[in-house]
Amino acid sequence: MTAARPDAGYFDQWYADMAASPARDAIIARALRLPPELAGVLPEPAVTELTSELRLPRDGLLLDVACGRGGYGIEVAHHTGTRLVGVDFSAVALELATALGTRRLPAGRAEFRLGTLVATGLPAGAADGLMCVDAVQFADPPLAALAEFRRLLAPGGRLALTCWEAADGQAPPRIQAVDLRRDLPAAGFLDVRVHERPDWREAERRVWQEAVAADGSDPAVRSLQDEGRRSLDTFASLRRVFATATAP
Ligand SMILES: C[S@@+](CC[C@H](N)C(=O)[O-])C[C@H]1O[C@@H](n2cnc3c(N)ncnc32)[C@H](O)[C@@H]1O
Repeated sequence: MTAARPDAGYFDQWYADMAASPARDAIIARALRLPPELAGVLPEPAVTELTSELRLPRDGLLLDVACGRGGYGIEVAHHTGTRLVGVDFSAVALELATALGTRRLPAGRAEFRLGTLVATGLPAGAADGLMCVDAVQFADPPLAALAEFRRLLAPGGRLALTCWEAADGQAPPRIQAVDLRRDLPAAGFLDVRVHERPDWREAERRVWQEAVAADGSDPAVRSLQDEGRRSLDTFASLRRVFATATAP
């Protein structure tokens, strides 16, 4: 990731490079022991935990905001039988998510739409659950995204969110801005829980270590390596967090 807040064009290129690089996904899949189509930096137990904390009714509606290539939301929808709407501001990511959703879910159960973290364009109060994996730090400020998430959820709807928070003043500025214990109640959420996940953190460290050690043969692998070096440089300053909350 770049130091400035990356825009949709930056992520379009990021995803286009990824789409052309089975090698990148293979590095991540090996480190996390997950199928390559998931290939974020969350390990398998995190996906199980997200699924269980969302408490989705069968035939409910799950939103995956900043869904990227859609892997985690599609996996949750696959296991729960819920309908899925994914939102991201990268059109390239949405094309990849649509293709994966078509392969993994029954016809008509998933839809992927352009929108931002703070303005999804979706109707208020319609979702039974909302997940946001490793992206709320891109909203300026993160509280604006949390307010949008709260708007989208029906009463009693569940939020499950993964991110990083700063452990000290050396964390990148975008991460310094994330404070979920402060901001989730400020956005109107109830029953807020923010847990640290050292085991997810260790899985992520394996991804960066494998990436840095790999042969940097294409743009996506080289980008993963740059991200890995930057992440390992500041790793001690980051806490891996998993937050859940309920809409009133
Ligand atoms: C680290 S990726 C995580 C993607 C996905 N949640 C996953 O875990 O595979 C961050 C995602 O946030 C999206 N993103 C960043 N800023 C955004 C914004 N302001 N509005 C919507 N999406 C955004 C990017 O396009 C990218 O897909």
